[in-house]
Amino acid sequence: MKPLIDVQRGLQSARIYHDRDVFDAEMERIFARCWLFLTHEAAIPNPGDFVTARMGQDEVIVVRQKDKSIKAFLNVCRHRGARVCPVEAGNARSFVCNYHGWSYGTDGALTSVPFEKELYKGRLDKSTHGLREVARVSSYHGFVYGCFDAAAPSLTDYLGDARWYLDIWMEANGGVELLGPPSRSMVHCNWKAPSENFVGDAYHVGWTHAAALKAGGGMLAPMSGNAGLPPEGAGLQVTTRYGHGLGILYDTNPGSHDMPLAQEILAWQAKKRPAIEKAYGALRARYYGSHINGSVFPNTTYLWGSNLFKVWQPHGPNRTECFTWAIVEKDMPTELKQRIADSMHRTFGVAGYWEADDNDNMESESQLSRGYMTRQGSLNAQMGIGGDREDPELPGVVGESAIGETSYRGYFRFYQETMNAATWADMKKGDAGWKRELTEAGSGLIGEPVAA
Ligand code: FES
Ligand SMILES: [Fe+2]
Repeated sequence: MKPLIDVQRGLQSARIYHDRDVFDAEMERIFARCWLFLTHEAAIPNPGDFVTARMGQDEVIVVRQKDKSIKAFLNVCRHRGARVCPVEAGNARSFVCNYHGWSYGTDGALTSVPFEKELYKGRLDKSTHGLREVARVSSYHGFVYGCFDAAAPSLTDYLGDARWYLDIWMEANGGVELLGPPSRSMVHCNWKAPSENFVGDAYHVGWTHAAALKAGGGMLAPMSGNAGLPPEGAGLQVTTRYGHGLGILYDTNPGSHDMPLAQEILAWQAKKRPAIEKAYGALRARYYGSHINGSVFPNTTYLWGSNLFKVWQPHGPNRTECFTWAIVEKDMPTELKQRIADSMHRTFGVAGYWEADDNDNMESESQLSRGYMTRQGSLNAQMGIGGDREDPELPGVVGESAIGETSYRGYFRFYQETMNAATWADMKKGDAGWKRELTEAGSGLIGEPVAA
């Protein structure tokens, strides 16, 4: 396959949005071996509680075990491959296939087969026909991830430096929870279009969302219509080892874009902040109360401050299912949590007025890449290239200003690495040089032809 990513020049081939071969390779190289979000622990508190989820194009059942651990299994019967569990969530003692009635325990074991004695005459080995188990399931502050590849790094190591930033609102503030069930919608775009947008695109906010910013009147409203840039030092962009990235706009928690609600949230946070500052230091405590956009590679995104958590599930090169939860602090009063969730769904839910703005862009960039000539060209993520650096205090690679494409470059640098590598062991080789690849990118750009 021709190279898709030019790290040195900050370019990506337009083929990444449409090409079927690229999509199939992504299912194997990315979705079959990276950690993927499954659910939040609070959604399945008791033995037998389950949700169904997706890992790439595979469907899985995520189920709480009798010993309280969590396991995940392919939602596929070992007889003729029909779906074993047809519903999104519930509590079960067993999963019974709709086709011929094979029955599985919540531990995945095949427990009963109709007319086993009469029809199989002792020749079916039930012990080798349990549901196929997802190799790894692990939890980060209640957020449950699964991984098909037993050789992958631990979830903790996979999140790596990103945890230093995430821990402020995943741990320091007492933790967060997802309010479900998630809303679901189908977007006619490639799964990377929204994932890259959330990983590091503060550039589009004032322009794409100009009307939404004005109508909402939240703390970011002054950006409407590209009226101005945030001042120097107003934020931060970061990218980390495995492509996870984030952007921070300091002290602009917009409370889901609703000023009265923002004031209430700011008052709530002001009470908690001194303790966070004491425990985690002033530098990190500042992220609590800031607006943070981010993605965990490959397809999980969140906006802290806009209170959304989304997963972009690939169904095909130009079909992506969006799962959306509201994300709230655990110890908030129930009534405040609900108002935050309502506000999030007004803005970023299925019919949210910010969501519609974004989907328009996601769909056009993905679908235009069907054009034969269009996909011979390249996509540009050069903003801030040459200014990415290591920082003595901040983990990862840091960009030079609040608005730039540092996190895009880090996301696609790892995308290229994982698409090219045969195994996780091969990717070990990248540990030493990945930062240098990014911080040394961009030299000699001016005058070079812009082509993939
Ligand atoms: S396909 Fe499931 S019982 Fe036959
Ligand atoms: Fe947006």
